[in-house]
Amino acid sequence: MLPAPILLGIESSCDDTAAAVVAGGELISSVISSQEDHAAFGGVVPELASRAHLRAVIPIVEAALDRAGIAASDLDAVAVTRGPGLAGSLLVGLSFAKALALSLDVPLVGVNHLEGHVYSLFLENDTPPFPFLCLIVSGGHTQLVRVDEGFRHDVLGKTRDDAAGEAFDKVAKLLGLGYPGGPVVESAAAGGDPEFVSFPRTRLPGYDYSFSGIKTSVLYHLNAMSETERRRHLDGHLEDLCASFQQAVVDMLVEPVSRAVQQTGLRCIGLVGGVSANRALRQRLESAANAFGGRLFVPAPIHSTDNAAMIAITAHYKLGAGDVSPLSLTADPALALT
Ligand code: KG4
Ligand code: ZN
Repeated sequence: MLPAPILLGIESSCDDTAAAVVAGGELISSVISSQEDHAAFGGVVPELASRAHLRAVIPIVEAALDRAGIAASDLDAVAVTRGPGLAGSLLVGLSFAKALALSLDVPLVGVNHLEGHVYSLFLENDTPPFPFLCLIVSGGHTQLVRVDEGFRHDVLGKTRDDAAGEAFDKVAKLLGLGYPGGPVVESAAAGGDPEFVSFPRTRLPGYDYSFSGIKTSVLYHLNAMSETERRRHLDGHLEDLCASFQQAVVDMLVEPVSRAVQQTGLRCIGLVGGVSANRALRQRLESAANAFGGRLFVPAPIHSTDNAAMIAITAHYKLGAGDVSPLSLTADPALALT
């Protein structure tokens, strides 16, 4: 018998359909189905994504319940991502979750996807003490946040244009490496020279970020060559280009966090979201945290990218605080962290 409360989490904000069961605050099962349909397009196609969620949501929920060894009737609550994300994709998960909560007569808990990334840290045994700084780096968001107990967040800085993950995806597309770009760029960068090209680092006042310049710099670097030169360059120096790009992005991400640690005195740092799977970023931020006598907290790589375990664990704490949602809950594609 699993400890109460038993929660099902559902995530469908972008191109992963995921379901997970958390019982008594412990992760029991987690299933993720990543859509393959988008690779040929070099990015997520919203219409294809929502159709793929429709096909996947029931089998994925069933798989999460099966792996947890429970039936739907054992659930005490149903949690779901309500935004931010793609409208059509969010609606599939939200409609399914509402119908399930209604039929089981259990509470519905709507979760902000960004809050889910922050609380992915609480899936680990070693959790950060409040308040802490959290760098959220995903395909759609790059934000530096102060996180206080009770789901209170103060956004210290965010990207003014592209997100860090988006820069990885766009540069991977330029280099003909496919989608999603982060993992392929990271593995290509492994044998490369990070000093090969010195891409300019954008530094903004405060803690804001900008990643559109670095993407353009990579484009200009390639456009300065003839077609033949470019092909030869990519054949011989792909690793070096990826390593140089990755180092520039890591530098731009880490510098404002180091300043925030000094200026706020908060020395515990969380690193979450898809780009937090990047080992170079983890290592650099860990060194930065250690240099200030602080610590870095990261989720397991499987919980860095989109998953439902983070939605279920966030809902566990919300439910504990009596924070449940009405069945009239709507999807909010532009939901912000407040
Ligand atoms: O959090 P996530 O799964 O979805 C969003 O909420 O956006 O993040 C996906 C992003 C993609 O841009 C992907 O390229 C990036 O995370 N990513 C990485 C790595 N793994 C995933 N970026 C850099 N290095 C990685 N290893
Ligand atoms: Zn995400």
